Amino acid sequence: MTVVGIVPAGGSGERLGADRPKAFVVCAGKPMVEWSVEALSAVCSRVVVAVPPGLERRPDRVAGGASRSASVRNALAVAPEATVVVVHDAARPLVTSGLVRECLEALDGVDGVVAAMPMSDTVHVSSPDRLIHDTPDRSTLWSAQTPQVFHAEILRRALGEGDSATDEAALVASVGGTVRLIEGPSDNIKVTTPTDLRLAEAILRDRC
Ligand code: CTP
Ligand code: MG
Repeated sequence: MTVVGIVPAGGSGERLGADRPKAFVVCAGKPMVEWSVEALSAVCSRVVVAVPPGLERRPDRVAGGASRSASVRNALAVAPEATVVVVHDAARPLVTSGLVRECLEALDGVDGVVAAMPMSDTVHVSSPDRLIHDTPDRSTLWSAQTPQVFHAEILRRALGEGDSATDEAALVASVGGTVRLIEGPSDNIKVTTPTDLRLAEAILRDRC
């Protein structure tokens, strides 16, 4: 089994509003992406990072694409040796190698595994005029995180067939793959806004 890590880091970070792409914003002393690369490197044979075009200055960095899936696809294209792929967002610097290992262990018997949190908020589906159209049973809802791990073959097929999902777990499920949800830690937050960045820094500093 050859496990390759892929870190989509090709976004601009519009909602964070920093002076550089989000993955390169300093978070608790180093560029945010480095936290994820370190955690994945402990478990993967190598880690390929998809960065905004023009920033692929180091080995194992490739130009990202216009969408997150396109960035993952570009990274996977340079890792033909992968039999298992760990996809993890640069925007989640609180990942640990322990969580990556847990996801890999849960891959037995399924096509993919996604770390996720049972939904704690009620979720409403709105109609176009912003009235509540439906309120799904919360006990069936999970909020997806990364890492997401897959057998490479089905991930390659899923990425080849569609580009509309916001995560690879949905893409793999859409081509008939079985994807297991495992409960991720509540501190595995995604940095989207300046408030998230402050929170991530506080948790990382608390760990040291
Ligand atoms: N991503 C990527 N390529 C893209 C878009 C996103 O590799 N074309 C990556 C981001 O770098 C991030 C992850 O996918 O690590 C999750 O995306 P998100 O949190 O939405 O990051 P951004 O797209 O950078 O942020 P925003 O949507 O606020 O612009
Ligand atoms: Mg985005």
